[in-house]
Amino acid sequence: MKALIAAGGRATRLRPITWTINKHLIPLANKPMLWHVITKIVEAGIKDIYVNVNPGEQEVMREALGDGEAWGAHITYVEQRGGARGVAHVVANAEEYLRGDKFLFFLGDNIILGSLRPFVERFLREDLDCLLAFSRVKDPQRFGVPEFREDGTLKRVVEKPVQPPSDFAVTGIYFYNDRFFEAYQNIQPSARGEYEITDVNTWFIDHGRVGYEEITGWWKDTGTPEALLEGNALIKDDLPKNHYAVESEVPIEAQVQGLVKIGINTVITPDCLIRGPVVIGSNCHIEGSYIGPYTSIGDGAKIVRSEVEHSIVFPNVFIDTRRRIIDSIIGKNAQVVDVQGTHPRSGHRMVIGENSSVEL
Ligand code: DAU
Repeated sequence: MKALIAAGGRATRLRPITWTINKHLIPLANKPMLWHVITKIVEAGIKDIYVNVNPGEQEVMREALGDGEAWGAHITYVEQRGGARGVAHVVANAEEYLRGDKFLFFLGDNIILGSLRPFVERFLREDLDCLLAFSRVKDPQRFGVPEFREDGTLKRVVEKPVQPPSDFAVTGIYFYNDRFFEAYQNIQPSARGEYEITDVNTWFIDHGRVGYEEITGWWKDTGTPEALLEGNALIKDDLPKNHYAVESEVPIEAQVQGLVKIGINTVITPDCLIRGPVVIGSNCHIEGSYIGPYTSIGDGAKIVRSEVEHSIVFPNVFIDTRRRIIDSIIGKNAQVVDVQGTHPRSGHRMVIGENSSVEL
């Protein structure tokens, strides 16, 4: 089997972060989001991997992920001709690589805990045309949603319905054979001008052998800041224990509790409390601070006399504030500091990029 990962698109809901970084490269536990996706795919036994990217983004993706050697796999980057024209278009665009094969299509902003192996095995064993993975959610109107007939069989899949016909989301983990391309020939762009994957799935329900599985473990579409933070947190629980190595000298007086990873050349002063799971990069400086559970701190960050919890801190960030920072995403090279000596001393001085969100 092959795998195709969708890693293009515009990611407007994650601006301003996605003005300067492709969403799929946002670090979760200090590794690009796609690193976790590729790890899952390889763990399921698939090593021939294609990554769909926006025009012009091939190099930046290759720089971040390489050609698959790190996983003993082979990665090919495929530009989406004409740009983001819909999720189904991602597959059609890669037809030359997938024709004649069975494949896993994985939306790169989906994070799943647990193994994909049982899905692969069922898809192959039952020789299905299409296998879908459902997850029960409280907001199905944000997703593709399956509609069932009274006898429990699948009737169709609808994209972001105002009145959801069930409380399941169709997750971005799909298994297809190459009848996909026949299905694609039979769909039209939707009202929002995109080739919808839901229309392909409905075609399969009408014309092929379709199976579905419920994901009972954890699954998340990391398309919003809240979901991204949750993804960052849950991935920490999923990482193998040996990932949490302390590679710098930490003074005995510093309190390091639970699972904590600390990279090389990072300075932790004796008056710090670090309560895992936490991942801290290399060349950081953490002084007189509390770093709370589910925080990631990128390489080269400096955190002084501050408290940070359940947050993603990108590389080279500087934080020096008496206000506690929680549930935050702080982009590369940003700084969050208390007001400095100049007048007026009250009030908040900010330089905030477009589409930023600040809660004071
Ligand atoms: O996450 C599951 C949901 O994903 C499904 O329930 C929906 O049926 C499916 O349409 C999709 O909905 P989203 O609104 O989340 O789609 P989004 O536009 O965010 O794109 C999903 C992924 O595919 C994301 O990683 C970006 C990538 N993408 C998207 C488009 C439109 C591309 O690579 N190229 C594209 O043209």
